[in-house]
Amino acid sequence: MADVRPESMERITTPELAKAFIDEQVEAVKKQVGDKKVLLALSGGVDSSVVAALLIKAIGKNLVCVHVNHGLLRKGEPEQVIEVFKNQMDANLIYIDATDRFLDKLAGVAEPEKKRKIIGEEFIRVFEEEARKLQDVDFLAQGTIYPDILESGPVKAHHNVGGLPEDIHFEGLVEPIKLLFKDEVRVIGRELGLPTGMVERQPFPGPGLGVRCTGAITRDRLEALRESDAILREEFAKAGLEGKVWQYFTIVPDYKSVGVKNGLRSFEWPCIIRAVNTKDAMTATIEEIPYSLLAKIVSRITSEVPGINRVLYDLTPKPTGTIEWE
Ligand code: XMP
Repeated sequence: MADVRPESMERITTPELAKAFIDEQVEAVKKQVGDKKVLLALSGGVDSSVVAALLIKAIGKNLVCVHVNHGLLRKGEPEQVIEVFKNQMDANLIYIDATDRFLDKLAGVAEPEKKRKIIGEEFIRVFEEEARKLQDVDFLAQGTIYPDILESGPVKAHHNVGGLPEDIHFEGLVEPIKLLFKDEVRVIGRELGLPTGMVERQPFPGPGLGVRCTGAITRDRLEALRESDAILREEFAKAGLEGKVWQYFTIVPDYKSVGVKNGLRSFEWPCIIRAVNTKDAMTATIEEIPYSLLAKIVSRITSEVPGINRVLYDLTPKPTGTIEWE
């Protein structure tokens, strides 16, 4: 498949068009790989999940999915990947909990770019090790989508965790959705039967919660981040904001302040809420969240999450802020 989307290619907006695309790609993949094995790093994000579901349809157990948990995923994510792909779709899924390995490597590292580099490199190492153990995989599948091809420049370079294992030779790449835009990938995902929560998932950086646990990551602060993020997502979903706000998450910085909890002095971290809207992530505006919802989230986070005694709402658009804090 060429890397340029033909002008004549119809935008996939309906289940019928999605079905036709899926049938076409299933045939193309079968033709490309025959009875050989294909390896896929399955993060659980929209793109890799759609590729996984498509390839399971095409080649079944000859697709080997590797889900690496780097310990920086959101609450419930590895469980969802296992439930959807292993339990429901009966995929050939290898789950690797590499949490300790990543967190040990990251211990004491405060510099944001260094953290990203460690996470990215370690991810490739873990993936390579698995690939080497498997030996007889000939193809590598990737969830490349059209904007990745259009935007692959210096800005995006640091954004991609993973990428190609460096010293393993594959006969070829399988990239069935590389000419699609994100909205089309979601239509395909729905048609393939993936759960709505997975198909509509908000963008999540490759280095995951690592960029939101600012400074040197510690396990207790990472846990506070994961729990506060889960509460935020739950309350946004209940308020019908899921799918309406482009990206929302919490940050737990490496800083403590004095507060009062249960009548006693506390010395704990703040939690910062960020909820932004954007078209292309180059600029972003702040979502106006109803005050009552914010108050509820503040109350839940400060009472349910150990280690947090304050909650702040970041009102800064991009520019001057970036969307993430690191
Ligand atoms: P910033 O913080 O640069 O983020 O305004 C713009 C968008 O990119 C996402 N982002 C990343 N995505 N790997 C990714 O895959 C990364 O390292 C990374 N850093 C930022 C961010 O979540 C936002 O949607």
